[in-house]
Amino acid sequence: MAKKNLDWGNIGFSYMPTDKRYVSNWKAGAWDDGALIDDPNVTLNESAGMLQYCQQVFEGLKAYTWEDGSVVCFRPDLNAERIYNSAKRIEMPPFPKEKFLEAIDAVVKGNIDWVPPYGSGASLYIRPYEFATGVVIGVKPADEYQFRIFTTPVGPYYKGGANPIAIIVSDFDRAAPRGTGAVKAGLNYAMSLHSSVLAHSAGYAENLYLDPATRTYVEETGGSNAIFVDENNTLVVPKSPSILPSITRRSIVYVAEHYLHLKVDERPVKFSEIKGFKECGLCGTAAVISPVGRIVNGDEVINLPSGMDKAGEVIGELYDTLTGIQTGKKEAPEGWIRHIC
Ligand code: PLP
Ligand code: COI
Repeated sequence: MAKKNLDWGNIGFSYMPTDKRYVSNWKAGAWDDGALIDDPNVTLNESAGMLQYCQQVFEGLKAYTWEDGSVVCFRPDLNAERIYNSAKRIEMPPFPKEKFLEAIDAVVKGNIDWVPPYGSGASLYIRPYEFATGVVIGVKPADEYQFRIFTTPVGPYYKGGANPIAIIVSDFDRAAPRGTGAVKAGLNYAMSLHSSVLAHSAGYAENLYLDPATRTYVEETGGSNAIFVDENNTLVVPKSPSILPSITRRSIVYVAEHYLHLKVDERPVKFSEIKGFKECGLCGTAAVISPVGRIVNGDEVINLPSGMDKAGEVIGELYDTLTGIQTGKKEAPEGWIRHIC
């Protein structure tokens, strides 16, 4: 076996089937042993809970090749925990956390030739997900489920790589107060598709959502949390019960405090405060940390002082430190790196 012959430095964020995927089924109250399989297709009954009532949750994480050729994953234990909690919220049997980690190891090893080489800037995106295979017609949880993991090599999520993007405040809400915004369920993403098509057709890379109860506080975007830097170089991090607890954002908070010795202020952030901030970034597994140069809300255009040419100083340092940890150039905090092979 040898590395696939891809133009690693120029792959975008799109699906490319790789050799193996992991599958485990839940039936009669228990998960089976799980196995790697070759077939990328899923066959479902027409009345499967997945197809009728969108009973599905998922995760996203990445594997990286380090300079010594070893392959690692970044904080997969937190993905194991989050999908466990997401599944419970959507009334699905949670996949055991230890089995999740073993399945990640197996699927990465099974697709080792697809893990982008060190220095290419690309990584292997890993997509664990669980969905209802059991049939339903009345609205209720199904009684059979499938957990799968596939992988696909990816480059930057936003076109233009690390260049600043412009985003627009959506007229629609992504989450509801006391709804499912804080879990990673496919239904939240279906909710965001209409806004995202409108934003893209108007020339914006992403939507920014406001809090659904009052529409005065900043929530997050369709696929990432937002972070800000104020005039004192404090990292300002929006806090809300209806945003996804991003693993990247939680890692950035630690990096800001312990590596860059910055003050971090995690609190509800009013949209009206943004015009006083110096920098903004969008963070997530796919987005990594993407600098934002402009935020538009109706007639209001906020041009962040960091501008549209390059990342602001603090966002740039956070990016370098976080990606340095992920790619083995900087020492990681205890427990952040899972060595796979
Ligand atoms: N917010 C949303 C809505 C997301 O889809 C994601 C992506 O996973 C994130 C935030 C970032 O989360 P994480 O850093 O755990 O990937
Ligand atoms: C991720 O960052 O893993 C996500 O799930 C975001 C998605 C929009 C690709």
